[in-house]
Amino acid sequence: MSENILIAIAWPYANAEIHVGNITGSHLPGDIVARYHRLKGNNVLMISGTDSHGTPVTLAADREGRPVEEVYKQYHDGFLELFKGWGITYDLFTTTHTENHFKVSQAMFLALKENGFLFTQKSLQWYSPSSKRFLPDRYVEGTCYICGFEGARSDQCDNCGNVLEPEKLINPRSKEGGALELRETEHFYLNLSKLEPDVKKFLQKRAEHMREPVIGESLGKIEAEGLKPRPITRDLDWGVPIPIEGWTESGKRIYVWFEAVIGYLSAPIEWSLISGQTDAWREWWVNPEAKQFHFIGKDNIFFHTSLWPAELMGAGVEFLKIFDPPTSPLQGGQEGGKPLTLPYDVPANQFMNLEGQKISGSRNWAVWGRDALTRYDPDALRYYLTVNMPELKDSDWDWADFVARNNNELVATWGNLVNRVLSFAYKHWEGHVPDPGDLRPIDQNLLNTVEAGFESVGKELEAVRLRAAIGEAMKLATAVNQYLDQTSPWSEVKKDKAEAAKTIYTALRAIDSLKVIFAPFLPFTSEKLHRFLGYDTTLFGEQYIEAVEDSLGVHNVIRYRDVSRIDSPTYWKPSQLEPNKQMRQPAPLFKKLEESVIEEERARLGK
Ligand code: MF3
Ligand code: ZN
Repeated sequence: MSENILIAIAWPYANAEIHVGNITGSHLPGDIVARYHRLKGNNVLMISGTDSHGTPVTLAADREGRPVEEVYKQYHDGFLELFKGWGITYDLFTTTHTENHFKVSQAMFLALKENGFLFTQKSLQWYSPSSKRFLPDRYVEGTCYICGFEGARSDQCDNCGNVLEPEKLINPRSKEGGALELRETEHFYLNLSKLEPDVKKFLQKRAEHMREPVIGESLGKIEAEGLKPRPITRDLDWGVPIPIEGWTESGKRIYVWFEAVIGYLSAPIEWSLISGQTDAWREWWVNPEAKQFHFIGKDNIFFHTSLWPAELMGAGVEFLKIFDPPTSPLQGGQEGGKPLTLPYDVPANQFMNLEGQKISGSRNWAVWGRDALTRYDPDALRYYLTVNMPELKDSDWDWADFVARNNNELVATWGNLVNRVLSFAYKHWEGHVPDPGDLRPIDQNLLNTVEAGFESVGKELEAVRLRAAIGEAMKLATAVNQYLDQTSPWSEVKKDKAEAAKTIYTALRAIDSLKVIFAPFLPFTSEKLHRFLGYDTTLFGEQYIEAVEDSLGVHNVIRYRDVSRIDSPTYWKPSQLEPNKQMRQPAPLFKKLEESVIEEERARLGK
């Protein structure tokens, strides 16, 4: 039975380029799992977008001295190009700055208000007399009053992870320079305390299959300090308008974190609208059987395991009543009170360092995603980021290791296997798959071993243990190499071509299966190999960039045309490679890298 799988990936802020740490942290693992489920024939929707609001983005605009709208769009368009190049197959990668996202966010806000989870309260906030405005969040830095960290922001400390009350910050300084004073302001608060029992219950239910560090941190925080009400509006003029009269006019907007997570709901709705299936989003969102996966970095855990589920449970069916897609035949609330689907798994990753040091964009200590593509093939990069994925602890990108693993594993174990067998078959059997007659026990044994991979690798992928999954796939490639060492078709062909035909047929069929097993990780080369083996279909769909217009203007999105939505092939099953099938001229799938790459790349970092 086909499952509905929502692959939801953290929305990158439009204030910096994306680097390999971001890619291995969330985009790549999400893509691998999405591709696996598509190969299985499941109903997958993979979404994210640019997190375009809040002080991270307005500060970037101030820094660059350009209008915020222009700055957010420039980063956004760069993201689209990067995803296309890396094969990160979003069904929709959009932005939070759309009419649709505004509407969905406002409906969530109103639903929470209607259900009694919002209240207003006055508080003190830093104000700049010289620029005559409030300076929220990242505009003010100082010393954390909890842990003593000197680079804390007025709303949150990145060192101890605590949310801060701005007025308690020690030695506050404005990012813009100039004096600061405390002034009274009023904001809406989300009453998380009231939702705490529900969030706790939700987490306890998930504890069985969620990663220990994620569940540990989430429940630990609730046990230690409970969930406290949080302000969900800000004194800022860039962001989603507050749907209550007078509030937006007085220079306030919805808080960026409150609305960015709502993107997980608004993006599927936008995808449905632009693909002309207005109600399709309900398959993932008003469906208790749907499975939602959230791919995020460890710094985002609280927002996804506590804040977002709290918003969803607090808004509930009320959201469906308030939000009524204009063209929908179904009026909101007709689902018989079915609640919104809650996250199934939040496989948050730890961080990736670079050559032993923390990645830092501002110090240019980074491997940038788009730049890396100008020198390396996407599958070589994807391979290294998968075997080094920081699943349970921080990992390190090391250029010497990158070259070694490319040459000794990807090229030596998998690439050479494919190249040797395909060119040999192509040459000795005139470009056709040899006809083996009856297979010998040794052949059948190899096929059994490799074919068991659909089960074993699939299990790891389903549990989002991607390092284990690719390790298992590599082991199967090694088994094929060992089989070839034993059977030695290269010399056998001269003595007994019929025996060699059995060996080469078996190896080709094993490779044909491994092509699918490797495809979630190495989609570009698997697709090439699929062609070499003579197939005319494709394993995956196509990515394309499109401009969408709404009342806020035009925004570009990346979309994906999914073959499985067209003719539902399920590739995730053992090869049935036909004898005598016509193949295509093969070529090497991967490139060996020169040792000199290591010094060149380190020099680029200024090392
Ligand atoms: N923009 C945030 C970050 O880069 C992540 C937001 S995830 C979302 O840390 F779901 F809230 F959008
Ligand atoms: Zn702190």
